[in-house]
Amino acid sequence: MVTVVAATTSTLRARVHATLRHSDDSRSGRRWRAFHLLVLGSGLLAVAVSSVPSLPDTVEHLLAFVIALVAAVFLVEYALRLWSAPETLRYGGLSEGRARLAWALSATGLIGLLAVVPAFAITLRAIRADSDIAAIFCILWILKLSVHAPAMTTLARVISNERATLASVLIIFVIVLVAAATATHFFERSDQPDLFGDLPSSLWWAVVTLTTTGYGDIVPHTVGGRIVGSVVMVSGILVLALMTGILATGFAEEVRRREYLRVWDQVVKVPMFTELGTVTLSEIVGKLRVRYYPPRFVVVRRDEPGDSMFFISEGEVEVRLPRQPVRLGQGGFFGEMALLDRLPRSATIVTTRPTTLLVLYASDFYEIAAHIPSLVAAVEKEAHRRRQENEAGRMATDGAA
Ligand code: CMP
Repeated sequence: MVTVVAATTSTLRARVHATLRHSDDSRSGRRWRAFHLLVLGSGLLAVAVSSVPSLPDTVEHLLAFVIALVAAVFLVEYALRLWSAPETLRYGGLSEGRARLAWALSATGLIGLLAVVPAFAITLRAIRADSDIAAIFCILWILKLSVHAPAMTTLARVISNERATLASVLIIFVIVLVAAATATHFFERSDQPDLFGDLPSSLWWAVVTLTTTGYGDIVPHTVGGRIVGSVVMVSGILVLALMTGILATGFAEEVRRREYLRVWDQVVKVPMFTELGTVTLSEIVGKLRVRYYPPRFVVVRRDEPGDSMFFISEGEVEVRLPRQPVRLGQGGFFGEMALLDRLPRSATIVTTRPTTLLVLYASDFYEIAAHIPSLVAAVEKEAHRRRQENEAGRMATDGAA
């Protein structure tokens, strides 16, 4: 009996933990994230508006209610995260109590707690929701978002991956900075002793100029100082361009790697792909994109131009044909006829339930046609059968008319 209860609890706890994880791709995970964003957005808006002085009483009450509601949602979330903390892989070796304590003391746990406490203080009228408190809220709630945003993890990984390259650019930045500050101090110190009389003031000017901010509060007057200033301004643009390039490339690579893994997870659910060898499969995985659709979503509209075809890895779609609709389930595909015949879409296609599709764009489809003829032959065979079926249906309709 005890074992059964423990097993059920553990399954429920594991499910809750998986849903709350920001990397969870399940439907409940995505729904939770959308809800969380909505709650957070409403909370931030309410806090921002509540900082406006002399609002009507009704508005103030409404805003206080929204803030309390948001805090209540965050409190429930905090409690659920604390309860499910032992499911975290990283705390695998710890007892339940220790795992919860470790989570509560982690950055996520502390930010989660801090996001709840001030809201209740406002609700209980221990403090007033004036503009200072509003600023604290905005910071705490935005921090909460940053902890759960996948982009932050991606950025941290990009910085870690590119640290050697970033460090070399930073070294160039520091060399230019110190050289420029020293040279300007040398040229300007007698002309403007207040502004360039010491190295820290010259360094401030160099930072403002090198980062292309240019407040204009300190300006070199001598010819030598202006020449140094020009060099610093151009160097600033170069250094920033280098940094941007490194981060943007690293970000794009990281996102591509993640998408690759996401596609792998879905590709294995489509028998057409699993029949191909691993090498061929890895070639096609790089060209597919995962898309999630809610029920009753029109994926393809009749007579519109077609630029892609779709494979169903989860869910179901309905092909709305003139005679009677056809349903396609997991492992099926559609949208191939427009690519093969280079004609507009022959039917409208709508999802019947939450559906995950793998999208293959026309340019990639034609490239694959050259490399993986077996896959395209199977697609062509099915398209041929569908054309014949549609033709037979049309003739039957015309005959009946
Ligand atoms: P396309 O013409 O690009 O867009 C509509 C899609 O509906 C079409 O490609 C096929 O993939 C699909 N389709 C058309 N006729 C049938 C059919 N008889 N059975 C199943 N799917 C079909």
